[in-house]
Amino acid sequence: MAENQRLICESIELPESGKGIRFTILFEGEETAAFVVRSGGQVHAYLNRCAHVPVELDWMEGEFFDDSGVYLICSTHGAMYAPDNGICVNGPCAGKSLQKLTVLESEGKIYYMKHEDRYV
Ligand code: FES
Repeated sequence: MAENQRLICESIELPESGKGIRFTILFEGEETAAFVVRSGGQVHAYLNRCAHVPVELDWMEGEFFDDSGVYLICSTHGAMYAPDNGICVNGPCAGKSLQKLTVLESEGKIYYMKHEDRYV
């Protein structure tokens, strides 16, 4: 494993539009919640922080998708985010976006990739 990557989970643990996996990173020196989900066959990861008020999105651990399985939804005021780019498409922070993180899926495993010094 390269120095700039960290194992999050096995690919099989992340079903399409299903429960996400929470993990933490050091963001600007602080331990910060993050999550990864699968949508459209791809894995996408974000800081677990709503663009409206900086609270975590999931009130039930790992439940990030709305009932349709199409959008990520904030459990506090219902902001809806596109899972592929994190842009808020509906709700109090429309036009803003989640902070995307870099992840890599390779040989049945999903890795967090450190891509900037402020994200570790
Ligand atoms: S805190 Fe997420 S929509 Fe308000």
